[in-house]
Amino acid sequence: MDTVQEGDQVIVYEGPSKMNCITITKGGSHQNRFGLFDHDDMIGKAYGSKAYSRKGQCYIHLLRPNPELFAIVQEKRTQVLYQADISMIIQGLNILPGKIVLESGTGSGVLSTSIARSVAPTGHLYTFEFNQMRADEARKDFAKRGLSSLITTTHRDVAGEGLSKPEIEGSLSIPFVSPTGEKEYPYADCVFLDIPNPWAVVESAFKVLRAGEGMLCTFSPCIEQVSRNCEEMDRVGFEDVKTIECLVCPIEVKRRHREYLTPWYHPPAFSNFLPSTNQEKDSDNEPSISKEKQNNTKQQEDTPITKQKREESSGAQPVDSSFYKLPEQTPQRFASFALPATQMRTHTGFLTFARKPPAMTPN
Ligand SMILES: C[S@@+](CC[C@H](N)C(=O)[O-])C[C@H]1O[C@@H](n2cnc3c(N)ncnc32)[C@H](O)[C@@H]1O
Repeated sequence: MDTVQEGDQVIVYEGPSKMNCITITKGGSHQNRFGLFDHDDMIGKAYGSKAYSRKGQCYIHLLRPNPELFAIVQEKRTQVLYQADISMIIQGLNILPGKIVLESGTGSGVLSTSIARSVAPTGHLYTFEFNQMRADEARKDFAKRGLSSLITTTHRDVAGEGLSKPEIEGSLSIPFVSPTGEKEYPYADCVFLDIPNPWAVVESAFKVLRAGEGMLCTFSPCIEQVSRNCEEMDRVGFEDVKTIECLVCPIEVKRRHREYLTPWYHPPAFSNFLPSTNQEKDSDNEPSISKEKQNNTKQQEDTPITKQKREESSGAQPVDSSFYKLPEQTPQRFASFALPATQMRTHTGFLTFARKPPAMTPN
């Protein structure tokens, strides 16, 4: 089992919305509002285990970092991409070990970290950022995460200078050599663009992508930008252009006092799937009920008809009627509700994918 070692980056987990990334040093310590945690106590502990504060009253969990956790703890120097988009990008571009990927802009390096994991150990990510400070910070972050051999960060305005061959060649650490010994271009398997004007780089992306399998993806928050990207992709010769929108709707089940519920808190489509009393079902379209009604209404069994009706309307499979019953002692003022998560790590935008067609062979 892997244990925490000096020099490791460790995610300190205090709760779902309270995580930090620390670097373990001999004699170092981590302070939070609960106490002081010595790094020396953490060294040798298995990842996933607890570390106790100096006074032994509180504990934190020590987690091994991965791109998903880095995305949460990463200092956000820019807007960043989140899991739903990242997973669609990796899958849509077919980013696999050994692939050569070009990306711009680097931003906070959240997507770059996920791409690096996918192309490792033999592939490479070339990422371009026109803000010097962000490029430098991202390079430092990648070094701390041990990703320097997988990511080359270049300070460049890709809209002005493009992704063209000579500049890339200068930054290449892996040679691209054809079977005949010639340097081979185009050489990139995938290009990803998360900049305000991706259309300005579409032609350049076409030039560096391998014919037949090279894939381009752009992220744009507005449909007008998507439209402009698509027109440019079409003009330069990309094929299979398609746009998708990734929306995430995590659902949390929570117990709530019925009096304080508003229609926002009571989506009937979800509440059908939850354990409930008849009283809850009656109020599916009625967010709160009066105190008098709550006190007077006795918990009842479903009649066969209401139960069947609910199952039909929800599309749910019939289940044992005891599933719907709350324990006897449960106060009726409270009920379980499926609520949209209060914190959603996402922002909306459109992903447009396009493929470079196979090279034309002269007749
Ligand atoms: C939204 S952020 C990218 C976030 C990144 N995908 C992530 O997950 O962390 C966009 C970045 O693109 C950079 N950028 C904008 N236009 C650019 C250009 N023409 N060339 C290079 N970088 C550019 C910005 O400086 C910014 O850092």
